[in-house]
Amino acid sequence: MTDLGEDTLIVVEHEPYNAEVPLPILAADGPESPAFFIRNHFNRPVIDAESWRIEIGGEVERPFSLGYQDLVELPYTAVPTVLECAGNGRQLMHPSPPGTPWGLGAYGAAKFGGTPLAPLLGRAGLSPSAVEVKFSGADQGVVEDGREMHYERSLPMERALHPDTLIVWEMNGAPLSAEHGYPARLLVPGWYGMASVKWLTRIEVIAEPFRGYFQSERYIFESDSLAEDGAPVGPMLVRALIGAPLDGAELPFGKVQVAGRAWSGRGGIRRVELSVDGGESWQEADVHIPPSPYAPARWSFGWRPDQPGAYVLAVRATDMNGEAQPLDSRWNAYGYGNNVVQRIRVRVLSA
Ligand code: MTE
Repeated sequence: MTDLGEDTLIVVEHEPYNAEVPLPILAADGPESPAFFIRNHFNRPVIDAESWRIEIGGEVERPFSLGYQDLVELPYTAVPTVLECAGNGRQLMHPSPPGTPWGLGAYGAAKFGGTPLAPLLGRAGLSPSAVEVKFSGADQGVVEDGREMHYERSLPMERALHPDTLIVWEMNGAPLSAEHGYPARLLVPGWYGMASVKWLTRIEVIAEPFRGYFQSERYIFESDSLAEDGAPVGPMLVRALIGAPLDGAELPFGKVQVAGRAWSGRGGIRRVELSVDGGESWQEADVHIPPSPYAPARWSFGWRPDQPGAYVLAVRATDMNGEAQPLDSRWNAYGYGNNVVQRIRVRVLSA
């Protein structure tokens, strides 16, 4: 296999820069993916870590701020996590909704290192009026109607105080890269990536639910077949993807190793099934469950085709909640949460 590093990303948009991973990385060995997608709403900010600080304030009794050195000296924990964009698979919806035209590679798996948020909120002392926590990124730009803003999102208090919600400064043991949020970002394991605000500058405890653009006008379900209008996008839905073989592959007759990754933001993966007849019948794949419920499970299936010819392979995961991937694409106005079963066409050649 060729080099699967950052430079193998497939550019989806140049400005702001958005890029997805090639699907073979889903079949690569190792717990961390050798490449990681990049999703930006605005151009990347330039940050001087010497003068950068995170302020923690709002509905708290003792507001304070932290510099980079203060942050990295806090208690450390590392969490292996999948991040997937809520718009992953948007291109597979018909008609294709507006938005960044992601294929299936808005995905990455990494071990993020940082400190839990809850003790910092505890140090600030939550006021009784606190209902949500809002996170601001240093990046800014213009959205529809010429409105200028920073990238900002909020979390309900319960998720903000969850022990696995972290402020992270490391990815796979190295400082975060500029693209992924250096000096520090929020990490909300199990949730679609929009929640994990990069280039964090302010954490504000608020007394009313946040109604900002990226909270109440985007990352919501609209005209959706499953969710009510305005329902927020939250935890990642169960999904499996095939990293090998690739769509359109021509395979020599004999045993074919079909492999990929599966994940869910709702407690991890219970089973993965493969179909070699386009979804008519299903067989159990081998699944290697990782220790972290947020990390992707590696799955594989040793397939021996009966005869040469054209086949449609499909993969379907079920999570610990018993939720299985749908056979048909979901549709909604902004193209979120499309975890439809992936199908690929392959041709098995004559011996
Ligand atoms: N944070 C800021 N400040 N600005 C952004 O545009 N994009 C969000 C999230 N955090 C974003 C952000 C979205 S939609 C996703 S999917 C993830 O970052 C992507 O993280 P990555 O670029 O490290 O893969």
